[in-house]
Amino acid sequence: MSGNMIAALDGEFRAAMRLLASGVALVTTLDAAGAPCGIAMTAFMSLSMEPPSLLLAINRTASLLAPLEDNGRFAVNILAADQAAACQTFVTTAPGQRFGTLDWWMEDGLPLVESCVATILCRVEQTADFGSHRVVTGVVEKVTVGGGEPLVYVDGRYGRVSVDG
Ligand SMILES: Cc1cc2nc3c(=O)[nH]c(=O)nc-3n(C[C@H](O)[C@H](O)[C@H](O)COP(=O)(O)O)c2cc1C
Repeated sequence: MSGNMIAALDGEFRAAMRLLASGVALVTTLDAAGAPCGIAMTAFMSLSMEPPSLLLAINRTASLLAPLEDNGRFAVNILAADQAAACQTFVTTAPGQRFGTLDWWMEDGLPLVESCVATILCRVEQTADFGSHRVVTGVVEKVTVGGGEPLVYVDGRYGRVSVDG
């Protein structure tokens, strides 16, 4: 395939994936010095119920990756619809200062974000590289469901779900 065709495919693929509405989570861990680390993520999905497990796709350049792998445990804090601004502030703040922008607490050795619709604590089971990303398989250790409306990210914007019926 020529370079131009790859570039065209790249654009079409991005355009297609922008239309995939996703939930948004702040995925968090604690680094070796005891500092909380985290990034916003849409690339997470449930994997299996036996055992309960999920997948993350983390860019290998992301500040979260090394501490997450060193720690071996992480939390998926699924955000509520009214946390769009908090998410964007978190994303646009330098890694070392992110946790100064929101309410969080420590539980079971992990930094957890306040007022989420659900929080899933996991341990890292497997990792595999593909392209720019590392795919992390996490086995679920503990789940807390706060409930409420989830935050949605689609076409580069935050929103909320409108459910028919
Ligand atoms: C809505 C949204 C979803 C994102 N999803 C992912 C994701 O699934 N995986 C990922 O590696 N980065 C994702 N990012 C980018 C990270 O949140 C982060 O900005 C990036 O890794 C750079 O972080 P760093 O400065 O801590 O390295 C997403 C950003 C936004 C705003």
